[in-house]
Amino acid sequence: MPGLGFAYTNVNYSRSCGEAARVTHVTFIDARGEARTVEAPAGMSVADAALDNHVPGIEADCGGFCACGTCHVYLDEDWLAKVPAADELEAAMLASQVIDPRPNSRLACQLKLSGELEGIVVHTPERQYL
Ligand code: FES
Repeated sequence: MPGLGFAYTNVNYSRSCGEAARVTHVTFIDARGEARTVEAPAGMSVADAALDNHVPGIEADCGGFCACGTCHVYLDEDWLAKVPAADELEAAMLASQVIDPRPNSRLACQLKLSGELEGIVVHTPERQYL
């Protein structure tokens, strides 16, 4: 945005005063077992946290609009009970658009970081495209 001195590239990222100062951590474990832990502000999606930190394995082609399925991740077993369930649209996308969906599948663009999700662990699939 000209004149403002900054630009947001993540269309799904929203910030409120209360969330702005809180830094959260997300660990991504790839299909080979390599773990990467990144920092991201509360309010940001797990997909945007991956993109901003150049974590491989998350494509997020639709920009976080729950319309492509290329931000597919598997919730770590320890987080299954702590993360709110997928809504109807996300569940439909998981059932129809991702490769190798499992009961712990989620769309990373629909997982919003917060204090409750501090330290969340997700596994990236081997691939996002056929
Ligand atoms: S970024 Fe497209 S469904 Fe998540």
